[in-house]
Parts: sequence; C-alpha cells; structure tokens
Amino acid sequence: MPNKSWEVGFHLRSPRNWLNDPNGLCQFRGRYYFFYQYDHDWPTVDQKAWGLFSSPDLLHWTYEGVPLQPSIPEDRHGVFSGSAFVERGAGKDGEDLLRLYYTGNVVDPVAGHSPKDFDYVYAGREQNTLTCLAELDPATGMLKLGPKQVLMRNSDYPDHLSCHVRDPKVWEQDGCRHMLLGGRHIDTRGLCLVYDSENGIDWTLRRAINSEYSFGFVWECPNIVRLDGREYLAISPQGLPRLQDRWFNRWTPGYFELPEGQRVIDTDVIDERTFVQWDFGHDFYAPQTFVDDAGRTILVGWMGTFDDYYSSVPDGLDWWHCMTVPRVVTRRADGRLLQNPVPELEALRGEASTLPATGAFELAGRFADIVLTGIEGEGALTLDESFQVFYEDGRLGIHYLDESAAAGRKDRSIPLESLSDLRIMVDGSAVEIFANGGAETFASRWFCPEKAGLAIKNDFATAGVAYPMANLMAEMYADAAGKAPTLELPGWNETVPH
Ligand code: FRU
Repeated sequence: MPNKSWEVGFHLRSPRNWLNDPNGLCQFRGRYYFFYQYDHDWPTVDQKAWGLFSSPDLLHWTYEGVPLQPSIPEDRHGVFSGSAFVERGAGKDGEDLLRLYYTGNVVDPVAGHSPKDFDYVYAGREQNTLTCLAELDPATGMLKLGPKQVLMRNSDYPDHLSCHVRDPKVWEQDGCRHMLLGGRHIDTRGLCLVYDSENGIDWTLRRAINSEYSFGFVWECPNIVRLDGREYLAISPQGLPRLQDRWFNRWTPGYFELPEGQRVIDTDVIDERTFVQWDFGHDFYAPQTFVDDAGRTILVGWMGTFDDYYSSVPDGLDWWHCMTVPRVVTRRADGRLLQNPVPELEALRGEASTLPATGAFELAGRFADIVLTGIEGEGALTLDESFQVFYEDGRLGIHYLDESAAAGRKDRSIPLESLSDLRIMVDGSAVEIFANGGAETFASRWFCPEKAGLAIKNDFATAGVAYPMANLMAEMYADAAGKAPTLELPGWNETVPH
C-alpha cells in the first residue's frame, strides 16, 4: 500500500524508477553535479544510464534528466558507474571542461549462441572504458555532453582479469592523471587496476593492486581518499563472509588506510586486515568521494543494496532507493575517517525543540534532525514505537520494534566502548545515524507507519534537541510524472543477466 510517510524530503532520489550508485560527483564551474545510475524500467529491463542532479549549494537541487544513455555498440547494455574529472582551463576560452569516465556494459549472446552458452564472468560480457566531455550550455545553463570515445576494451586489460572490469575513478596527482578500475581476477578474487595518462585519453597500465589473501570475489567502485598527507584506497567488495560484528551486508564497502608515505598508485599488495567498513546500516553501497572547491572531501553513498534478504522496494513507491546526504569526510588522528552531514543541511532546520526527559515528543512532519550530546551510559531513542537506536551492553545498534516496518531487516549492532553523541537524521523512510563525531554511521531504511507527525522518545540521560527539516523533494518533484523518462534504448535480451 502506498504510504506518504515513506517519501523522503531531503535525500536525493530519482523522480521515478530505479536509482543506484552515485556517479561523476564533482563541483564544476561553481555548481555541484551528482550523476546516478538510473534504470528506467526496473525490474523488467535493467539497462543503466546516468541521471543527473545539480545544485549551487548542496541544498537546492535541479533534476537535469538522463544525459548519458546507452547509444553505441560499446555501451549498449548499460552506461555503468564512473567518475568526473574537471579539466582546468581546457575550454576554447580558457574555461573549465568536465570529462566523464564510465563503463560501457555489453552482454550479448553471439549470433548463433544461446545465452546459456555463457557465464558472463569469463565469456559473453564486455566492459569497456569510455569517456565524453561535458560543457555548460550557455543557452540553458545545463550540462551538454559531447561524443563518446572508447578508451579501453577487455582485450586491453591484463590477461589475468575476468570480463568484470569497471567503474573508472580518475584523479590528478603530481601532474599526471591516474585511473582506478575495479575488477575480478580469473581466480575469482577482487582487485584494482591502476592506469596513468598524460592527456586523459591514452592510458598505460601501471600496476594491479591485490590483497594478500582473497577478499571478496570482485571489487567495484574503487575510490581514492587523500587527507592530512595520508592515502586511502576505498572499494565496494562483493562476497565478504558475514561475521558477527562486521560485513553484515552481502556487499560491504570500506577503505584501507595505507602506511605513512605510501601512495595508492605505488601499492601492489594491500593488507586486507586493515579494511574499515564505511557504514554499518542495512542500506549503504558504492560510495564515491570528491573534493569540492573549498577543499572538502565529500562522500555520497547509494542508500540501497542488491541481493540482500531484505527489501528496499515495498509496494506503493514508484521510486526505488535514494542517496545518503552528502557527508564531509575528515581524518581522525588514529586514521579512522569521520563522516558528518555537510553543514549546509542545517539551513533546512526549523525551530529547535528540546526533547522531554520522560515521554515522547511529537514533531510536526516526518523529517527531523535529532541531536544528542554529552551522552553518558546506556539509553535508547525511539521513533513512533517502531524504530529504535540503542546503546546497551557496550553495543550501538538499530532495533526494529515493528517487523512490518523493517521489510525483512534484522536488528544489528556493533561493539562500542563508549558513546558520547548521536545525530539521527530521519527523512521519511531513510534514517542516517552518526555517532561519536561521525566515527560510526548507520544508513538504513525504515518503512514506518503512515502518520502526520513523528513521535520521538529519548531515554538517554542527556538532553536532546529535535529540528523539523524542510521537504525539498516536494518542490523539486511537484510534477514528477513528467520528469520520469522512459528511455528509447537499443535492444535488450531479457534473458541475459546484468
Ligand atoms: C555497483 C555496480 C557497479 C556497476 C553498477 C551498475 O553497485 O554493480 O559496479 O557499474 O553498479 O549499475
């Protein structure tokens, strides 16, 4: 049944249809551009394209349609994930240009073969690396994309790679451009490839980065973070074993901090024991970071996941999944990366209300920013007697009091020596939790009961403050139906897996 309380107000979502990974995150000529994996006919077709949001301030967003779609043989079954690179002063009048890098996915039974002849891992799949330039159209102020160019095909990747090689991340370091590609070794383990280029078009293999022991069967969406003189390789691996206190999701993204003085581009072997999970929630995958004009490292994750035992697609919504809020990433002295909502979001707050010491407080509306500081000891914060964030017996976690609101999600928690602060952003069915200055985060969906307001009960022995938050999506998608394109895409054989 449709439920208005599931609508999000300040988490980016597609006007309709499917959204997964954030792609091409950047600030270009002063404006923020967030592309995303869009599927116009999920689950029937599963043929990805890049949708686009842009914003002058990370607050007010414009939906710019689906500018990058399958259109050539090399990307005909999906414009898969990738990144954006700002080419400084490269335009004809010395203006900046934006270069997009992405994976063209092709899964085509060869003429005369049936789809059953292929496993799509070692045969029957192409994953090409492509690029195209984007510039600002002065007439519309919107991005205009130029022709596509194929940079690398599977035959260009090293022989020890399976057909799974994707998700280019490009950045500049020491005057040279570098690219990370995620992939799957023929021995069925994840790895990254590192390429170098002087001009962004011709790429030379520099090395492969492997883990010492197998760590998942494929690494997707590789990413680099450079903060305070240290470098981090981030990946989204598939196939980590579920353990008691970590890797709860089938697909669990995280990062490795490299030893002091070591660069990602010079790394051959990574110690998989140093892997740190980005987020402990149920709905978090394929995060990407970028550095904005102010020098901040900003992370956006896909608030969703594939192939898990719970659903993010309950009946009654015509859009599936959303992004996390943009999170500023900083480095703690011990190397842990802290993630906190960009301060811009505070402009969405309405008047603050102090949470009562006993009983529940009823906030008007379903969008809230709840802040608890100076926490000592155990406690819980309960929403609508349905969803609880608790700290108990040295564990911080989520408890679904109402099974139907969990849509299959099970309670989960992590060991935590002490808890000092909590910030909980509630946005309809999207909840993000930030604890201990952003050292621990949980992004999870909650398919809450339909209700006009939000009951907030604070059992921690500390005062809490709740702010109502503005609903940006209502304005952005006032005429959503007209903004939900069904694409005219090249033919697709539904029997082939993506
Ligand atoms: C990660 C991923 C990427 C791929 C994209 C396809 O979620 O599998 O590796 O490029 O999604 O939508």
